[in-house]
Amino acid sequence: MRQLRSIDDYSIVKNKKVFLRVDFNVPISGGRVTDSTKIEKLLKNINYLLSNDCKVILASHLGRPQQNGKADLSLLPVKQITEKIFNQQISFLQINHTTKQKIDESKEKLVMLENLRFDPGEETNELEYAKLLSSFADIYVNEAFSCSHRSHASIESITKFISSYAGSTIIDEVKALEKVFSKSKKPVACLVGGSKISSKIDLIINLMPRMDFMVIGGAMANNFLKNDGYNIGKSLFEKNVENTIKKIFDEANKHKCELVLPMDVVCSKKFDQPGVIKKINEVSDDDIILDIGIEGTNKIDQILKKSKTVLWNGPFGLFEYDYFANGTKDISRSIAKYSKKNGLISVAGGGDTFAAIKKSNQQSHFTYISTAGGAFLEWLEGKILPGLKVLENN
Ligand code: 3PG
Repeated sequence: MRQLRSIDDYSIVKNKKVFLRVDFNVPISGGRVTDSTKIEKLLKNINYLLSNDCKVILASHLGRPQQNGKADLSLLPVKQITEKIFNQQISFLQINHTTKQKIDESKEKLVMLENLRFDPGEETNELEYAKLLSSFADIYVNEAFSCSHRSHASIESITKFISSYAGSTIIDEVKALEKVFSKSKKPVACLVGGSKISSKIDLIINLMPRMDFMVIGGAMANNFLKNDGYNIGKSLFEKNVENTIKKIFDEANKHKCELVLPMDVVCSKKFDQPGVIKKINEVSDDDIILDIGIEGTNKIDQILKKSKTVLWNGPFGLFEYDYFANGTKDISRSIAKYSKKNGLISVAGGGDTFAAIKKSNQQSHFTYISTAGGAFLEWLEGKILPGLKVLENN
């Protein structure tokens, strides 16, 4: 990947109107934002622009209004919490042909646009819509790595009409991913959890040649146990994945990557009942496998002890339920321990991983945690992210 155009040189931003594409697609319940991590993450960068006399136009999507309707998908609650976080008033504007004038007349230095996806042109990457958005500002800065896998108007087409740059969160994210991918210190371990093997196969296959250990956990691992003839009771599994499993074994052999699968599991009959640790050959017909066992987490601890780099994607159990969060918490603690003690380079991200790490309260010890879901996975699958491609230096 070529270098991205950055805004390191303050003369690029000084005194400018900046269209800042952010990812404020945050959870909202009862009209209130329930997790503002994505907003807080940008505090430093937005303050940098404000301290350089910029007018900052915050632009984000929220949910999927074209599929699910606009009700409850206004960014107004996000504007309200952002005002509290920044301790300053934000002017909130609908997107139309009067927006440019309103931005220019606004005395507030921070402006937030209504949900970009309220206009169908956003998701269809429509040039007219992109041109309208670009007319609001002098320069465009993308701070939304997590949206850069989308060929949408505010991510891709807009860069055709306005000088465009990658914000520092994108530059940091790419540097962190390169640390586990192309510029990693060996040995490298990869921990992949989550529920669906079919959604992780591309990731596993693309990473395998660069990994020394590939540890598979979560409900995804049930497929391997079933394939090996073990009883998995009433546990989650996918149909027709025999070829996928064979491919993973073949690639592991080809690249001399040690494939690590669960040795013991935590089983229960119900999600709200404590589980019992069982060897993988002891699972009964009415059991549901809901977490990795102690033997498994000890093995992972030993792998992490001898690794210099680790990449973690996906929880290893049903961590939303306290009874089945122990395996994921133990892994989180092991990574934090060796990051502090041995200088292990630890990068985690994708889907629920951030929430799982937060539950163990170890996030400050990781080298980097990405809040991106799909974009994080697609980058590691080796796909070109359209939003980054358009910000590369020529
Ligand atoms: C995310 O939350 O991962 C990003 O905001 C992307 O959202 P999307 O999947 O709706 O494009």
